[in-house]
Amino acid sequence: MRKPIMAGNWKMNKTAHEGVELVREMMDDLTPIASVERVFCPTFLAVPDVSRAVEGTDLGVGAQNLYFEASGAYTGEVSPEMVREFCDYVIIGHSERREYFGETDKGVNRKIKAALDVGLTPIVCVGETRELREQGKTESWVRDQVVAALDGLTAEQVASLIMAYEPIWAIGTGLAATPADAEEVCGGVVRATIAELYDRATADAVRIQYGGSVSPANAYEIMSQPNVDGGLVGGASLKASDFVTIVRETARAKGLS
Ligand code: PGA
Repeated sequence: MRKPIMAGNWKMNKTAHEGVELVREMMDDLTPIASVERVFCPTFLAVPDVSRAVEGTDLGVGAQNLYFEASGAYTGEVSPEMVREFCDYVIIGHSERREYFGETDKGVNRKIKAALDVGLTPIVCVGETRELREQGKTESWVRDQVVAALDGLTAEQVASLIMAYEPIWAIGTGLAATPADAEEVCGGVVRATIAELYDRATADAVRIQYGGSVSPANAYEIMSQPNVDGGLVGGASLKASDFVTIVRETARAKGLS
């Protein structure tokens, strides 16, 4: 069975000081829920303090991005090794990075390889716009993103990473995908594409998160879906009680509490 993984994507919120406070607020409630992998993804500057705050627990820390080169004259960028010093995970190809910072499928693929090379677990984001959905292009769009992201990876590498299906129209809008739609794309598109590119065992090993307006109110239904192995949570991960409830609901949905 795949272990569910719930990651909080804090985006550009919380200073280092505020981030540590948020973690401390959740820590006692989160540590007993060991059946769910729990990860905080603060901004780069908050990563070191947050990683120290979770030391000695099994709570994980992830970055929200990295650059694929190992070192050199890349002003403003952070290397895989620098991320690895403090993190076990890294979000790659979030739709906000694709939209505002010009990330391409090719760059996403390079970042995934660079992350894997230093032992980071990538959380690879894919998802369609509302327009694409309305045009009935969700399946082909997401499929193409998965194919491009995984280009040149071995089955073993793919089995070790995490995919996140995040429909862009659901991010930060309060309009989450229905549980059936989340299941349809996580299972019927993302996992199915991996099975087609690799094999059934690899596809069955990959954990696939759903992201986009996950909340305490909808977490149970969405996380009950067999092909949804957790979530990437934005807004609700900034509120201690909401994130704790979402993690609890995930454990309950998977019959692990
Ligand atoms: P949201 O963001 O939960 O605020 O919709 C999710 C994400 O972008 O990862």
